Amino acid sequence: MSSKSRILVTSRRGFLKTAAAGTGGIAGILAGRTVINAQSKTAAATATALTAANAAHAEHTDTIQVALVGCGGRGGGAAGNAMSVKNGPVKLVAMADVLEDRLKATFEGLSGEYAATMDVPPERKFIGFDAYKHAMDALKPGDVVILTTPLAFRWVHFTYAIEKGLNVFMEKPLIADGPSAKKMYALGEQAAAKNLKVGVGLMSRHSKALIELHDRIQNGEIGELILMRGYRMAGPLGSAFSEKWPGTETELLWQIRRFHSFIWASGGCFSDFYIHHIDHCCWMKNAWPVKAQALGGRHYRGGNVDQNFDSYSVEYTFPDGTKLLLDGRCMVGAAPMYHSYAHGTKGSAIIAKRNDCDPPSSIYSGQSPDRAKMLWQSTDTSSPYQNEWDGLIAAIRGDKPWNEVKRGVDASVATSMGRMAAHTAQEITWDDMLNSDQEFSPNTDKFTMDSPPPLLADANGIYPVPMPGLKQKHEY
Ligand SMILES: NC(=O)c1ccc[n+]([C@@H]2O[C@H](COP(=O)([O-])OP(=O)(O)OC[C@H]3O[C@@H](n4cnc5c(N)ncnc54)[C@H](O)[C@@H]3O)[C@@H](O)[C@H]2O)c1
Repeated sequence: MSSKSRILVTSRRGFLKTAAAGTGGIAGILAGRTVINAQSKTAAATATALTAANAAHAEHTDTIQVALVGCGGRGGGAAGNAMSVKNGPVKLVAMADVLEDRLKATFEGLSGEYAATMDVPPERKFIGFDAYKHAMDALKPGDVVILTTPLAFRWVHFTYAIEKGLNVFMEKPLIADGPSAKKMYALGEQAAAKNLKVGVGLMSRHSKALIELHDRIQNGEIGELILMRGYRMAGPLGSAFSEKWPGTETELLWQIRRFHSFIWASGGCFSDFYIHHIDHCCWMKNAWPVKAQALGGRHYRGGNVDQNFDSYSVEYTFPDGTKLLLDGRCMVGAAPMYHSYAHGTKGSAIIAKRNDCDPPSSIYSGQSPDRAKMLWQSTDTSSPYQNEWDGLIAAIRGDKPWNEVKRGVDASVATSMGRMAAHTAQEITWDDMLNSDQEFSPNTDKFTMDSPPPLLADANGIYPVPMPGLKQKHEY
C-alpha cells in the first residue's frame, strides 16, 4: 500500500469509528431531540435574570450552528458527534480544509447518516489557509466551531474563534512546544473572560468508567498511588512513517497530509498517540509530573525520512516522587500492548482495558490484575466522544462553565516533556519544557498555498531528526 493510500484508509477508519461511537442513527437522534427541546425551553424560561451578555447562551434553545475546520478522520467523527447530541438541534453549516479531497470525502461520509442535520452548500465549503476564517464567518456568536486540524494550527484558529465570539471544540494535543503553550494558556483565559465554552478532545475525561474509577481512587480504594503505567505499542500507525516527498503536491501540503511524521505539525507520533494515557494517568494521580527522563531510538527506518523514533520509554516523576512509566512503540513484529494501570499501597487498577480509554476499568486487591482478586469492574459503555459533546452543548444551552483549555495545555506540556526528554537524552523539567525557546512553527498564521514548509529537507531529501545526547537543547 502506498503511503498516500495508507493515510486515507486510516482517516476513513478513524472517521467511521468516532462518527459511529454513541450514535443511534438519525431516528434515535431525532427522538431524543424532542424530549431535550422541552427541557431546554424550561431552562430558558428561568434564564431571565441573567445578564444581557449571558442571555445569548442561556436562551440558546434554537439551532446551534457548527462549522468544521479540518475535515479529516477526527473532524468527521466530531461533526457526527455534534449532530448526535442529546440536546440538539445542532446543524453543520460550513466546512474548511486545505485539502479539497479531504473535505469532499468527509462531506460525502457525513451526508448519508446526517443529511437531515447538515446544510453545507458549495458556497459554504472553503479550501485554503484562510478557509477557517470564511467558515467561522458563516456562524453567529454563540455557535460552535470544531478545530480538528493538526495541532500546529490550533492557536491560530482558536484566536479567530475567540474574536468571533464562538464556542469551540478542539482536538488534542493543543501544543508541542513551550512558546505555543504560553499562547494557548493566554487564549484559554481570554475565552473564559468572554464566557465562551471550550471542549478539548481528551475524551478519557468523559469516559464514565474512568470517572467512576477516579472517584474510587480518590476514596482510597487502592490506597496511595505509587506507580502508574501506560503502554501504546503497535505496528506503524497513521502517517508516522514517511518516505521522501514525492513532489506530487507542494511540500507544505504533503507534510500536513503526513502530519504524524513532522514534529512541527503534530509533536510527532509521541505527542499525537501517547497523550491520552499520559493525561488519564496524571488525572488518576491528580498531579502533573515535575520532570521526565526517557529513552528512545530509530531502529528500522528503511527509506523513511520522518522525525519519529520507533520506540520510546519515559519515566515521569510526580511532585511526591512517585512515577508514571510510559512505553510507546511503532514497530512491525513487536508484541502489541495498549492499556494503562494504576498501582496503590492497597491494590491496583486497570484504567484503560484497551486502546486510549476503552472500558471496562477495574480494581484489584493485589498488584496483579487477577480475576480472582477483582473488587470492582465498570459497567458503563457509553461513548466518551459523545459524552464530551453532550456536556459541551448542555453547558452552552444552560450557560454553565465549560473550559477545558488549561487542562488540555497541561496535558500537552506533560506529553511534550517526555518527548523532549527522549529526543535530547536530558532530564526535562516542567519549567524546561514550558520555557524552551524552540518554537517549531512560529509562522503558521502566515501560511499560503505557496509557502515553504517550516521543516526543510537537505539536498538528499532527508529531514533533521532528534539526535539524543548530540543535540541537547533543541529536539532537532
Ligand atoms: N481524541 C482522539 O481520540 C483523536 C483521534 C484522532 C485524531 N485526533 C486529533 O485530531 C486531529 C486531526 O487528526 P486526524 O486523524 O483527523 O487527521 P486527518 O489528517 O485525518 O485530518 C486533519 C485534517 O485537517 C486538515 N487541515 C490541516 N491543516 C489545515 C488548515 N490549516 N486549515 C484547514 N484544514 C487543515 C487536513 O487537510 C485534514 O483534512 C489531531 O490533532 C489528532 O491528534 C484525536
